[in-house]
Amino acid sequence: MALRPNLIVEPILLEIPVEQGRLNFLDIFGNTHPVELEIGSGKGTFLLAAAKADPASNFIGIEWAGAYANFAADRLRRHGMLNCRMVRADANWWIRCHVPDASISALHVYFPDPWPKSRHHKRRLIQPAFLNEVVRILAPGGILRVVTDHAGYFEHIQQVFGGFNGLMPHEFDSPVQTADGLVVGTNFEKKYQAEKRSTHAIAMIKPAI
Ligand SMILES: C[S@@+](CC[C@H](N)C(=O)[O-])C[C@H]1O[C@@H](n2cnc3c(N)ncnc32)[C@H](O)[C@@H]1O
Repeated sequence: MALRPNLIVEPILLEIPVEQGRLNFLDIFGNTHPVELEIGSGKGTFLLAAAKADPASNFIGIEWAGAYANFAADRLRRHGMLNCRMVRADANWWIRCHVPDASISALHVYFPDPWPKSRHHKRRLIQPAFLNEVVRILAPGGILRVVTDHAGYFEHIQQVFGGFNGLMPHEFDSPVQTADGLVVGTNFEKKYQAEKRSTHAIAMIKPAI
């Protein structure tokens, strides 16, 4: 997948040796600002808008596809978004391995792969084990926001959230300013809006102690 030739991914793309274990975000960003995490950042459209709008927060995007992770890293660099980092990894693994407890102020999951076939449902990101990790990494008062176009996946997400005790339902307030009718303004949302597909948004909060 050649998205752009001559990408420059430094200093945005993070390559963390596995033995480093849980990170200290102060070492990465040089400040103690709140850290937001996006899973499945694609070409980095949401991260770019969010990081531009909120320079007093730090952002990390985790993207499995190397070509997209590199594209997003180069794009964020070109825009001078030094409060952003990209990681090329499986989010479930990377979070377990590298994200400290109670360190994330917001977790964004926009248009996760729906895995529509029944035999593939186990590959869906939103599962009870994933929510255990979400509760572990969110700071008290931290929020999880999810948007999907897929009605079946949305039903599954509602069921998983409904059966889980560590998070409370919260109003979905759009985290960035978007064009008319868009909720988060990602590439997939724009594509689905053009196809007149409806989207479903849901948020959960980790109660403040
Ligand atoms: C449907 S696309 C949505 C991209 C972007 N969020 C958007 O709305 O335009 C899903 C993205 O999630 C990435 N992805 C899927 N599973 C992942 C995982 N376990 N960890 C990190 N990224 C993942 C895919 O590579 C893909 O880029």
